[in-house]
Amino acid sequence: MPQNNFASRKSKIAGIGMYVPPNVFTNLDLTKYMDTSDEWIQERTGIQERRYAHRTNETTTTMAVEAATIAIQRAGITPQEIDFIVFATLSPDYYFPGCGVLLQRAMKMKEIGALDVRNQCSGFVYALSVADQFIKTGMYKNILVVGSEKHSFGLDFTTRGRNISVIFGDGAGAVVLQSTEEDNQGILSTHLHSDGESAEILAMYNPGTHANHWMETPVADFNEGEMGDMFMSHAMIDHAQNFPNMDGPAVFKKAIVKFPEVIMEALQTNGLATADINMLIPHQANLRIAQFVQQKLQLRDDQVYNNIQHYGNTTAASVPIALCEAWEKGLIRDGDLVCLAAFGSGFTWASALLRW
Ligand code: COA
Repeated sequence: MPQNNFASRKSKIAGIGMYVPPNVFTNLDLTKYMDTSDEWIQERTGIQERRYAHRTNETTTTMAVEAATIAIQRAGITPQEIDFIVFATLSPDYYFPGCGVLLQRAMKMKEIGALDVRNQCSGFVYALSVADQFIKTGMYKNILVVGSEKHSFGLDFTTRGRNISVIFGDGAGAVVLQSTEEDNQGILSTHLHSDGESAEILAMYNPGTHANHWMETPVADFNEGEMGDMFMSHAMIDHAQNFPNMDGPAVFKKAIVKFPEVIMEALQTNGLATADINMLIPHQANLRIAQFVQQKLQLRDDQVYNNIQHYGNTTAASVPIALCEAWEKGLIRDGDLVCLAAFGSGFTWASALLRW
């Protein structure tokens, strides 16, 4: 197991910000498009409402700019002082290039490095871990770490897609990471994991380079202009393969094992126990998952923060949004032990333990 304590320098969250679009979409609103109900959604997921970005005027990058502007301001620096961007999203503005460079352009930053992380629900914790290593080695001073998602642009808003589309929402969260000399402050350790065995059970297959089972035409028989169909074709759209796929119960079963495991790994690495946690910020996948984890770890209500009720699952944005909101409400104070934990598509899962 790699250890995180190779350097004496630590990184701390110097500023944090969040943005959610003003457009509130309730469970009742969803019933206009699909056969579902407020009761079903609340009972299975805890979600009451979510935010949807403006169809044309808001993108994953514009929401990230809003969150990042606040984080940078709170860190007491300017966008020009950021020396690296790590941007986590599964819903980028373009297939390529990634959102990191779009954020660099939009915020008129210097010609700094911009890295995109594609780890879905674990994306922000992975991104934070990457940034943490760069601060510890002394390579960068101010790193902007962002999680942002515009799910509403690509969900199946028919009864066929209801098991997925009711869960997800849009939003962005961002932090500025800086180095700290303080003993009682900063990221203590991060822990990253993956198991690709079940990669397809929570996935969006297209556009992609994999072979599609309904494409049996040998390449040699393709007519002129048909080659590109391998990437995104009418057949894919006809088979609803332009939407995400999820085996919900299988995700649930794995999540309730891996969440507690990776939280305990973080605590044990630092010689701490669940009773030492002041605030657990679990990725907001499903309120039932978070409640199961809380029960398993025997945490009190005041040790766990959930806001999925109002934002749905915002994937890479959920951890920084929940962290920001908990901090803004005064629920996280200087010196508190905060644990961030996430699980999602891949499967990938991750945790970070920090002193605020
Ligand atoms: N409204 C009404 N009914 C719905 C529905 C919806 N939005 N979505 C699915 N159903 C129906 C199904 O069609 C099924 O009907 P049937 O029994 O007639 O076949 C029934 O509800 C039960 O479906 P199932 O998928 O077994 O429900 P579930 O209790 O497992 O709940 C999830 C579904 C998705 C809420 C749940 O599995 C879950 O949250 N899993 C984890 C997903 C997750 O966290 N994803 C993000 C990963 S980070």
